[in-house]
Amino acid sequence: MKFCVAPHMKTSTTHSNTEISRTLKSLIKNRLSKDIIRYLESITQLGDRLNVSIYAVGGFVRDLILNVPNKDIDIVVEGEGIPFAVCLAELFGGKVKSHEKFGTSVVTLSNGDRIDVATARTEYYKHPAALPIVEKGSIKSDLFRRDFTVNSMAIKLTGSNAFCLIDFFDGEKDLRSRKIHVLHSLSFIDDPCRLFRAIRFEQRFGFEIGRQEQVFMRTSIKKNLVDSLSGTRLFNEIKLLLNEKKTMDCIRRMQEFDLFQFVSPEIFKGSQDLEVLERLESIFLSEEKRIVIGKPKVWYVYLLGLFYSLDEVAFLKAAKRLDLSNRIKKSLHEDRTHCRQSLKKLTSKNECGPLEIYHAFAKLSVEGIVFLIALSSTNRINQYANIYFTQYQGRVEPFLTGNDLLKMGMEPGPVFKFVFNALREARIKGSVKSREEEIALVEERFLKP
Ligand code: CTP
Repeated sequence: MKFCVAPHMKTSTTHSNTEISRTLKSLIKNRLSKDIIRYLESITQLGDRLNVSIYAVGGFVRDLILNVPNKDIDIVVEGEGIPFAVCLAELFGGKVKSHEKFGTSVVTLSNGDRIDVATARTEYYKHPAALPIVEKGSIKSDLFRRDFTVNSMAIKLTGSNAFCLIDFFDGEKDLRSRKIHVLHSLSFIDDPCRLFRAIRFEQRFGFEIGRQEQVFMRTSIKKNLVDSLSGTRLFNEIKLLLNEKKTMDCIRRMQEFDLFQFVSPEIFKGSQDLEVLERLESIFLSEEKRIVIGKPKVWYVYLLGLFYSLDEVAFLKAAKRLDLSNRIKKSLHEDRTHCRQSLKKLTSKNECGPLEIYHAFAKLSVEGIVFLIALSSTNRINQYANIYFTQYQGRVEPFLTGNDLLKMGMEPGPVFKFVFNALREARIKGSVKSREEEIALVEERFLKP
């Protein structure tokens, strides 16, 4: 499929404006869900009524042309974005949250769908990796501030020339030739997050980062500009990459550009690290295993993999660099420790019994268990994990509660932990199967003088 920009936007065109808008309208009709079409129609009507120019922009336009599902509607208002978002929220009966400083709003609808509304803006960077200084601008300046040509297209939704593609920077041509190109040579200097974004889009769509862009990237990397990104922004980019479908391709590409050094120079120092991550990928690709393990957070498992061979000092430093929350840091710390212990226990014997299997997995998060399976090159741990998931996980919790123990006359305190552990172990061994049998066990073992 070939598009052309609206004639008033570029000098040479081969299609008329009407023809393009007809094609875009048919893409919208054929490729988008009924809900999204309804939202777009309402946005158009409201924009026309208020006499403001509204554009759908960025990933939404890119994915529409590529025929990739994308539920996020990103719109830009030439004029005041926030009041438009407020009207839109009223119209849909949704909620609006705005950032005055950036002129942006998020409209959240009652069914959870969201529409991002921005004021067309120009951005200046005071110094590399700084948050940009924002000024109101035209759609052209708004598109020029963007990362890549393929993300710099817009569809005008209002006015007489509605539904024409606005493409000042040859984004549509780059989509066709599957190239990631920047709009200017300082793009990776202004915003080093784009180093990660370039890899993300390249790998997601099977595109190629342009030759010149690779040179720009290496310059930004050599200048260590990633160091000036905040931990939150760096973590967010890494998390998005680790959540991509082709995670290993993203990881390999990040390694090629030596990007992990900015999290920790120790990552991938271990000779086995990459192999373990590759096994992890095949676990995620295996339909059968996925059913058993449920829905682990993919990014977390890979992050655990990247951090696994770091010593404690390097781990804490990396966690600090990414500004990880205490909850994530604690969970990674525990999974690292328990994975090491469980790997040792499960592989040091020829055959493990039910209690050993249970205790090897019970302290791990679901993500930790997936990683433990990947740590071993044999199928044994996977078989044990299957036993754990199908026979023990959530199935051996005692029938009795703390209240029951109190009613039975037990003094509250650390002993409760022993009681529950004994009850759980009895369930695992099959020696206790009901509430009555649990009561008998507690009386026999813990209440008899
Ligand atoms: N953008 C940018 N530079 C950034 C982040 C975002 O230029 N560092 C612009 C791009 O035009 C992008 C748009 O803002 O298309 C929206 O950003 P985001 O939602 O992060 O990206 P999407 O392109 O929608 O990607 P995804 O499909 O991963 O959500």
